[in-house]
Amino acid sequence: MWTVRSASPAETEALAAGLAPHLAAGDVLCLHGELGTGKTCFVRGLARGLGVTRPVTSPSFVLVHEYRGRLPLYHLDLYRLRGPEEAFDLEEYFHTGDGVVVVEWADRAEGMLPERRLDVVFSFAGEDPGARTLSFVARGERYALMVREWLKGARTGH
Ligand SMILES: Nc1ncnc2c1ncn2[C@@H]1O[C@H](COP(=O)(O)OP(=O)(O)O)[C@@H](O)[C@H]1O
Ligand SMILES: [Mg+2]
Repeated sequence: MWTVRSASPAETEALAAGLAPHLAAGDVLCLHGELGTGKTCFVRGLARGLGVTRPVTSPSFVLVHEYRGRLPLYHLDLYRLRGPEEAFDLEEYFHTGDGVVVVEWADRAEGMLPERRLDVVFSFAGEDPGARTLSFVARGERYALMVREWLKGARTGH
């Protein structure tokens, strides 16, 4: 597990933008953490890093937004997921293989998440209203290598 501190929304975006070049079709990123900890902010950075020009918003009535960049980016937000039937309809996204899948509130689809994925856990970091910690948990060797490569080149704030 790798833990990175972010001091601002811009820094969270920049971290994610820096991860984007390491991503390939079929990669799955699952974002966990309370409301307001920066998950959507991170997706915004990922999109920018993938060359998406359309603004990223939180999927609200639809649970999925698709963006076109260097690779397709499928942005799922399961916050409003109503039940297992709805989750079932989304399962195909975890196995599309033609783009990058990023999932907010991924734990709401616990049983259907792929075994190999990158989990990112977001939390508030103390008193500072702009501080967050992002913990990366690689599930599978590919993701472990990816995070190592990425953090080698990233400004981590340490
Ligand atoms: N270091 C930080 N990283 C990300 N967002 C931050 C940070 N500091 C403050 N914020 C603020 O926290 C909120 C995060 O919102 P959002 O990305 O929508 O969170 P989530 O998707 O987890 O609910 C935004 O209002 C953002 O400006
Ligand atoms: Mg969000």
